[in-house]
Amino acid sequence: MTIDIGGPLLLVGAGKMGSAMAAGWLDQGLAPDALFIQDPAPCENAQKLICDYALVAGANPPLPAEPVIIVLAVKPQMMTDVLPPLKKKAGPQTLFLSIAAGKNLASLAVLLGAAQPIVRAMPNTPAAIGQGMSVACSNEFVTADQAEHVITLLSAIGEIAWINDEAQMDAVTAVSGSGPAYLFALTECLARAGMHQGLDEQLASQLARVTMEGAAALMRHSTESPAVLRRNVTSPGGTTEAALEVLLGEEEGLAKLMDKAISAATKRSKELSG
Ligand SMILES: NC(=O)c1ccc[n+]([C@@H]2O[C@H](COP(=O)([O-])OP(=O)(O)OC[C@H]3O[C@@H](n4cnc5c(N)ncnc54)[C@H](OP(=O)(O)O)[C@@H]3O)[C@@H](O)[C@H]2O)c1
Repeated sequence: MTIDIGGPLLLVGAGKMGSAMAAGWLDQGLAPDALFIQDPAPCENAQKLICDYALVAGANPPLPAEPVIIVLAVKPQMMTDVLPPLKKKAGPQTLFLSIAAGKNLASLAVLLGAAQPIVRAMPNTPAAIGQGMSVACSNEFVTADQAEHVITLLSAIGEIAWINDEAQMDAVTAVSGSGPAYLFALTECLARAGMHQGLDEQLASQLARVTMEGAAALMRHSTESPAVLRRNVTSPGGTTEAALEVLLGEEEGLAKLMDKAISAATKRSKELSG
């Protein structure tokens, strides 16, 4: 697959997320002379890409033409400073793709102009290894071709889903944006519980981590649902069943706890949104 958006792509902010996206695009065939990086201090990974692919980069990189897409990968609080000068570089058809957490389409439009095509997307940290989950939504000025470009760009760092109702972005943030942290927390809890049963710390951590990694990889490679994979480990009357009766069977079990957690994260996302 080759990524061709038909003109310059300007990436603003070459930190963890920006560099992961740039690596994915270049890996998937984006021509290096179509990618421009705007960041006064790119992270180490970005610096390596700039060097390896001889990319044009800097605090204000020269562009050969109006950018077709500007990807905003700076911290949300930087938007007020970054967007007004960027607006001058853009044309009325330039698509802005923002991955800034909590910055909604309306607040971006205030800074960019009411008729500017804008897509808001929420990726997650496994994007750094090309296994992210991104969810995108757009305003009404985004064309079908522009949406296709966004799908191509975000597919370079994992899977993408498109939503039509921006209000769902808070729940998306709670589930997939914050989601990697839940698996890490579960791994920590599993290791600690192993220690409580007499395993030493090193062994308990190894068992928990490798088990989670293996289970996640199995889920990725299997066509079965998580519920079937779970049942495959659970023999009637066995050890897994004994644990799952505690985890899933009790009134205040994991399902209820997860509901509460996702509800709290969704609420917090709403509070932070703007
Ligand atoms: N990391 C995640 O898990 C995650 C998940 C979903 C969404 N996001 C969103 O992705 C965005 C980037 O996050 P990140 O984790 O990649 O942050 P990051 O590593 O801090 O990257 C941001 C980059 O932007 C640079 N920068 C600062 N001011 C700039 C300016 N005026 N012009 C151009 N570049 C500038 C920063 O340089 P300095 O370091 O010198 O300030 C840094 O290199 C955020 O909006 C965040 O909400 C992140």
